[in-house]
Amino acid sequence: MEAIRVVVRVRPREEQHSVLVPSNKRGVNKSITVLPDPSKLPDDAKFGQKSARLTVAISSGTYEGQEFRFDQVFGPESTQEELYQTVSPLVDAAVNGFMSTVFAYGPTGSGKTYTVSGIPGQPGIIPRAVTQMFERINEAASSSQSLAFMVFLSYTEVYNEAFYDLLSPTFDASHRVPSYKIQLRDSHQRGVYLTGSPTLRTPVTSAQQVLSLIAKGNVQRATGATNLNERSSRSHAILTLDIECQDSNRGGGMSRMGRINLIDLAGSERVGLSGVEGERMTETQT
Ligand SMILES: Nc1ncnc2c1ncn2[C@@H]1O[C@H](COP(=O)(O)OP(=O)(O)OP(=O)(O)O)[C@@H](O)[C@H]1O
Ligand SMILES: [Mg+2]
Repeated sequence: MEAIRVVVRVRPREEQHSVLVPSNKRGVNKSITVLPDPSKLPDDAKFGQKSARLTVAISSGTYEGQEFRFDQVFGPESTQEELYQTVSPLVDAAVNGFMSTVFAYGPTGSGKTYTVSGIPGQPGIIPRAVTQMFERINEAASSSQSLAFMVFLSYTEVYNEAFYDLLSPTFDASHRVPSYKIQLRDSHQRGVYLTGSPTLRTPVTSAQQVLSLIAKGNVQRATGATNLNERSSRSHAILTLDIECQDSNRGGGMSRMGRINLIDLAGSERVGLSGVEGERMTETQT
């Protein structure tokens, strides 16, 4: 598996949403054509040809006349299910002890949250990944009695360069001060992780439980926001699932640990501004 894959999704053009596309961004979604490129299909293309395209052509704006190639390109007609096929192998790998991270990157209104979380009736990456993960765990546990799995959930938000634990019962709804002093740590055994709140490592046993915790976290996130869209556009949401597996045939110690991070980044035009002192000050004051 490659170390990094870049997959592009072109969202459908809908006038009713165009208000979400910043007016200073030229060429967003108005001039992109996804080119068929069947001779260059990736070896692992298992799904429809329309979603196995690799090149986008830009017909107006700053990049007029240029073509860009990616590991995979999904056109405006692509479905949530097709897009998910790029993530599905990472979920299997996490159950088998590997680590991976999926970032959704793009300007405000480009479809990051739609792709990562989805909308009712059109589930995105997170609900599909959580469901698949527990299916795989249950399959593995029932085919080998010696295996015992433990799964830990963390759901955080990064806003104004501070972490917020969205699962914390004492979450500070005003969002001004983190409810706990959450800090990044790095260890050989666990990799990069956060400390400072017990719910940063919430044990979970079913997909349903994870999805209901995420829903509660989203309510917390919304509670302190004067304008939810505005806030979600300016913060990163980070969902982490750690899968630990013990094999009693191998002496009972932890035999492998996998992890998948699913990240809905702040609108990319906001990230560009986040280093600016004045912008940070405005953010904390609003
Ligand atoms: N592929 C798609 N098909 C149908 N609707 C979409 C698609 N992508 C995005 N949308 C719709 O467009 C709107 C904006 O998308 P979304 O909220 O996902 O943007 P975003 O990238 O998360 O923006 P922000 O940076 O502000 O959080 C939403 O109403 C969403 O449902
Ligand atoms: Mg969003």
